[in-house]
Amino acid sequence: MLDLSDAACVRKPRGRRLTRRAFLGAGAAALALQPAHGQIVPRGIPFGAAIQTDFFDDAAYRQAFIDECDIVLPMNEFKFGLVQWERGKFDFTNADRLVDFAQQHGKTVRGQPFVWHLTNGPWLETIDNEREATAVLTEHIERTADRFKGRITDWDVVNEVITHDPLESPSAPLRDTFWLRTLGPRYIPLAFRVAADADPTAKLVINDYDLEFVGESYNARRDIMLSIVRQLQDAHLRVDAVGFQAHLYAHQKIDVEATARFKEELRRLGVGIIVTELDVIDFQIQGGPEAQDEAAQVVVSDFLDAVLPGAPPLAVITWGITDRHSWVDGAMPHADGLPSRPLPLDANDRPKDWYLKMRSRLSAS
Ligand code: XIL
Repeated sequence: MLDLSDAACVRKPRGRRLTRRAFLGAGAAALALQPAHGQIVPRGIPFGAAIQTDFFDDAAYRQAFIDECDIVLPMNEFKFGLVQWERGKFDFTNADRLVDFAQQHGKTVRGQPFVWHLTNGPWLETIDNEREATAVLTEHIERTADRFKGRITDWDVVNEVITHDPLESPSAPLRDTFWLRTLGPRYIPLAFRVAADADPTAKLVINDYDLEFVGESYNARRDIMLSIVRQLQDAHLRVDAVGFQAHLYAHQKIDVEATARFKEELRRLGVGIIVTELDVIDFQIQGGPEAQDEAAQVVVSDFLDAVLPGAPPLAVITWGITDRHSWVDGAMPHADGLPSRPLPLDANDRPKDWYLKMRSRLSAS
């Protein structure tokens, strides 16, 4: 049984509803005036993409974000090990560059993530006691949140806490990580409590992958997520939204009904959803670029059928903007050695059909 109990949690009333305007805060007014495709967009679901300072020298890359996005998300610049490669030496150089770029161009910025099991400095896992791990987690969240207070609309507080396949490890719904081993499940409420105190105006998100497909292990992942959210609320902690990473496997089926039900359960708890890392993983799609893009169109469209009806997602964000720069080829290379086609713009920065269709649906929602 999953138990996140944390004796230190403060009691507060539960069940606050979250509107999109409240979520975006002051940024919402600016968003309404934000040009996308050269037009005024008075309504609709905001669109954003993860950006990397590594490629800032590439003018076309920067311009794509300026032209396409309402929101930018630092792909790596806020990750634990990039901010704190050496223990206690906080380096915000790249995070600052990125947030400055966003602000100069009138974009809002969301933050990702305070707590994850990857991209941590090697020093972290040498810690072997609860007291030190608590102090490190607390200081990291407090200093990072504090530096960007008022400039970040929302934070992924914890990322990928659910075990990869819960059916393989039913006794351990949570992922086996440094944080779980050192602090137990209470690291999750701890992170939410520290984040809420550090920046009371930023919205707080719990982010994970594989929340939208057909299959028993995906049903189990949705159930575990609901259980975590309920337990955080029972501990009177604020959870504003569940983040669907939406790394969409083009060879898998979206469970439109189960995903919509999951979203409705969350809505009843007063919790929204946000799409945080959408891209298409097409390593099993044979037949070349056209077949890859057709498969992408199906999986993205089915996913939108699941998440758009009813209360709109707070935003839809893709994990990069152009196929020239994506993690997919490195992490899940195509079976035939073809370049993958995961993102809104192709390698020549031409928009894919699925992206244009998605933007129309976001504008109309
Ligand atoms: C990946 C980035 O794309 C890479 O550049 C980095 O080296 C590792 O992290 N799920 C997540 C993201 O939550 O943070 C990951 O991003 C992709 C999978």
